Amino acid sequence: MKVDGQHYRTIWIDPEDPQTVCLIDQRQLPFHFSIEKVHSVPQMATAIRDMHVRGAGLIGAAAGYGIYLAAVSGSDLNQAAHVLIETRPTAVNLSWAVGRQLDAVKLRESADLIQITRETADIIANEDAAHCCQIGKHGVALIKALAQVKKGPVNILTHCNAGWLAFVDYGSATAPIYAAHDLGIPLHVWVDETRPRNQGAYLTAWELREHGVPHTLICDNTGGHLMQHGMVDLVITGTDRTSRSGDVANKIGTYLKALAAKDNNVPFYVALPSSSFDWNIRNGLKEIPIEMRNEREVKYIRGFSDGEIKEVLIADGRSSAANYAFDVTPARLITGLITERGICQANEESILQLYPEQRQNKL
Ligand code: MRU
Repeated sequence: MKVDGQHYRTIWIDPEDPQTVCLIDQRQLPFHFSIEKVHSVPQMATAIRDMHVRGAGLIGAAAGYGIYLAAVSGSDLNQAAHVLIETRPTAVNLSWAVGRQLDAVKLRESADLIQITRETADIIANEDAAHCCQIGKHGVALIKALAQVKKGPVNILTHCNAGWLAFVDYGSATAPIYAAHDLGIPLHVWVDETRPRNQGAYLTAWELREHGVPHTLICDNTGGHLMQHGMVDLVITGTDRTSRSGDVANKIGTYLKALAAKDNNVPFYVALPSSSFDWNIRNGLKEIPIEMRNEREVKYIRGFSDGEIKEVLIADGRSSAANYAFDVTPARLITGLITERGICQANEESILQLYPEQRQNKL
């Protein structure tokens, strides 16, 4: 997508120094647009753990490039894989990408390690962008259909950031939005701020503004009220891991939006590339690990003041805080899944119709 008119992806190999991986440092947005240069596995692990990069697809791509950096420095790839997988537990794209790298190395044992891992990291990143682009092509039909039966813009609510910053390009939840906007379909996006890290406020709103998409930032608790008053036509979120039966783990607070959507007959869609399916689990609530993050993220808030990014305490520092980073929305609350292969219902049979090769994995 474009930043100040220039096309960027979220991660790429430095064309001037192929031993370096460049990434957009998301901790600085929306206040500064800055590129970080990563040279080693420990640096990449820190970038993922401390959320310089985040979002399911992007941390998968970052882990892929992390394995490439391990090969460049002659480090043990299995050890690097372990370090990278340990950084964040919920998004399945991370272990999926690392597994793909290790499989590629095993398959082509005699080939040059640096070359294989570089090729595979690029394939993972390119595929991520291509799949998100396809999600846009399929998902746009939903927005088009709503636009045909209503006067005025289609109002879409989204939670957290499942935008291009969370992937390599286009985003998952935002791909249909960008596609519809580019076709001239009138739409407007309600952006949940998404406490505690405020990915909606800092990242989604920034992305949408850069692309010229009309949007309004709202506090996390606002969505239910808007739905009760007919001000939301469609909810689209992303996911960090979806079970083969269609249970969806996504940023904390997604479940409450799905409940409110159900109560108000608002269609609730989840957009995901196949790399976010966990084919090895069925019961999302029991089987998806939920990341617990530092309580500091709840008690402090980041903002911009006197030309600097600062953190301020927003609670009694002596109180303890709990920071559950994700929740699971059961499949029964989800109207459909928008994937790179098309739209399906959130149930195992419908998902497997799109991904028949996964039928052989019987669990
Ligand atoms: O903790 P994050 O920012 O890495 O969480 C990921 C998310 O932004 C959301 O859960 C998103 O909706 C799914 S990732 C495409």
